[in-house]
Amino acid sequence: MDYVQYGKTDMKVSRITLGCMPFGSPSKKSGFDPTTDESFQQAERAIDCALDNGINVLDTADNYGGGLSEMMVGRVMKRRRNDCYLWTKCDPRSTYDEIIAACEASLKRLNTDHFDLYQLHGGSQGFSPEVQDYILHGGPLDAMLELKRRGLTRYIGITAEEYSDLVTCVKSDQFDSVQICYNIIRQGAGVNFLRLCKEHNVGVSIMRPNTSGIFQRQMAALMPELNEGDKSSYLALAFAISDSRIHTLCLGMRSPERVMQNVNFYNNFKIPRDMAEVPILTSKVYMEQDKEAGFDVKPEDYIVKTK
Ligand SMILES: NC(=O)c1ccc[n+]([C@@H]2O[C@H](COP(=O)([O-])OP(=O)(O)OC[C@H]3O[C@@H](n4cnc5c(N)ncnc54)[C@H](OP(=O)(O)O)[C@@H]3O)[C@@H](O)[C@H]2O)c1
Repeated sequence: MDYVQYGKTDMKVSRITLGCMPFGSPSKKSGFDPTTDESFQQAERAIDCALDNGINVLDTADNYGGGLSEMMVGRVMKRRRNDCYLWTKCDPRSTYDEIIAACEASLKRLNTDHFDLYQLHGGSQGFSPEVQDYILHGGPLDAMLELKRRGLTRYIGITAEEYSDLVTCVKSDQFDSVQICYNIIRQGAGVNFLRLCKEHNVGVSIMRPNTSGIFQRQMAALMPELNEGDKSSYLALAFAISDSRIHTLCLGMRSPERVMQNVNFYNNFKIPRDMAEVPILTSKVYMEQDKEAGFDVKPEDYIVKTK
């Protein structure tokens, strides 16, 4: 495993983070039911396996399985809190007092007295300009800064599916970290947003690096042989791992077998080329999206340059 400096924080994060969302979600395919003790034990084994094999970030949220994911992680934190950076999230559409209370409830479920990163959780609704303004001026940011002052979290972050929802927040320089959706089929952040994060020295983690299985389902319909031996997942992971602007891939894994599969893949994969330097051939497609996100768009940035 490799470790990189996470933006302006003191965290040296593993390139792979254990994404703990699947711990809170039932899976018909594997028979995982997060309400059962059996699933708690499986999650515990997966977390131990991740920590034993070099992964040092756990990313969860208070609403994954209505708190079940945090409780599963909390079981392990009773004995291994010092072995990892612990990240969780809360709802940013809350009041100042609700965010303080949500943090205290998460600390209890996670059996800890502080988080390394506490994040405002974008969720699927995204942030309208009004919500962004509310976050910065209506209470949520103040609550997050208060939690930092009290030592209940060391750093604060914000997450959103769409990078365009986070431009104002990154420019505000108030957040230490962002988590966005960026992967082999969602590359919009690759032209301007990741550059902006670098300029502001913000830690970047990506959700859904394995496309949450969407790419695999599409390949199953189009070219099933690409799914054999999980090739399409490895392709998705290779893409994300090879981009130096991404500090850590928040990869959902709910069993020790999955953890070992991905750790082994990472350890054996030689990054052929930094994807940050590979021109995005269809980048013009993203010009309009960047404009809407408020970037000062320069058409020449979208011209493919070859070395
Ligand atoms: N901030 C936000 O709003 C937000 C939103 C979504 C996600 N997240 C974070 O990002 C993490 C990742 O998102 P995600 O879990 O939706 O998507 P993901 O990491 O793209 O995909 C996870 C799924 O991929 C499968 N998988 C993993 N490694 C594989 C491999 N080597 N071969 C084949 N399949 C493999 C697993 O399926 P099996 O179940 O079959 O093992 C797993 O459930 C979450 O856990 C969460 O921490 C954050």
